[in-house]
Amino acid sequence: PTLAEKIAGAPKAELHIHIEGSLEPEVIFDLARRNGVKLSYESIDALKKAYEFTDLQSFLDIYYAGASVLLTEDDFYTMTNAYIERALADNVVHAEIFFDPQTHMERGVAISTAVAGIERALAEGEQRGLTSKLILCFLRHLSEADALATYEAALPLFDTYAHRLIGVGLDSSERGHPPSKFERVFALARARGLKLVAHAGEEGPPSYIHEALDLLRVDRVDHGVRSIEDPALVARLADSRVALTVCPLSNIKLRVFDDMKQHTLKQLLAQGVAVTVNSDDPAYFGGYVNANYFATADALDLSEQEVYTIIRNGFEASFVTPAERQALI
Ligand code: ADE
Ligand code: ZN
Repeated sequence: PTLAEKIAGAPKAELHIHIEGSLEPEVIFDLARRNGVKLSYESIDALKKAYEFTDLQSFLDIYYAGASVLLTEDDFYTMTNAYIERALADNVVHAEIFFDPQTHMERGVAISTAVAGIERALAEGEQRGLTSKLILCFLRHLSEADALATYEAALPLFDTYAHRLIGVGLDSSERGHPPSKFERVFALARARGLKLVAHAGEEGPPSYIHEALDLLRVDRVDHGVRSIEDPALVARLADSRVALTVCPLSNIKLRVFDDMKQHTLKQLLAQGVAVTVNSDDPAYFGGYVNANYFATADALDLSEQEVYTIIRNGFEASFVTPAERQALI
């Protein structure tokens, strides 16, 4: 078999997927019709044509517009089910999924509605071969007070869905919104025993990765690719084995790198950093997990050994309990 066939056939974990970023254009239009939501795009094709991003913000504007069709529990179920189909097709056997409650709460959708719909699909997914965890992300372009209020609103859910909702994260517009802004809400989550992750060093500087580690005390860093600019930071990541959830196709679409050949994943791997490969927002960036592996292996000429190391990193960096890990590997 070719390397691509081996990649496709290997069981994999995905640790960086925004469930709202799995909304395919067709599903966005179906849900808009179902809910009577008016989109500012005339057709599916017109929407797809708008997927020409110049940076993170140009993507986020469209991503939040797409998520505006989600209103009912059933909408969240439909969206999550569609992702499960795609994940299983790629032999993803474990997924740790982000969701952005604040973007839904702004439209009057309760956080419990979102979680109930996502959970119903994920519980069914378990029967079909996909284990999963859910991570609540705070939107960093909003205030600290908004994040704290969201955390408060989520408190009962951390009990009800303790088996699924195991952590908090930080996403949205990175520049100008350093991790330090969210130190207090992360301290509360840490005191509660939740897992902690944050997007850092995607567009933002290496200092934001230091902040995520030192102030938020994250268990993993999402993206983190700009760590390469700071050799001491790369050494720190390698020594601590704090994993990076890298999203190669995302990085090209959002112009973090001009070209996949310029991607620094292979260098980070060579320096001992626990890098993983993930899809981020697959409906927007041109592919699910396997496509991310294929594009990276191809452009960077990864060896079979390197590919298997990355796949193993995905399981090792996951937040499954020791008992769950036994069942997975
Ligand atoms: N929200 C969804 N995808 C994101 C990304 N790549 N960076 C920051 N926030 C996001
Ligand atoms: Zn992301």
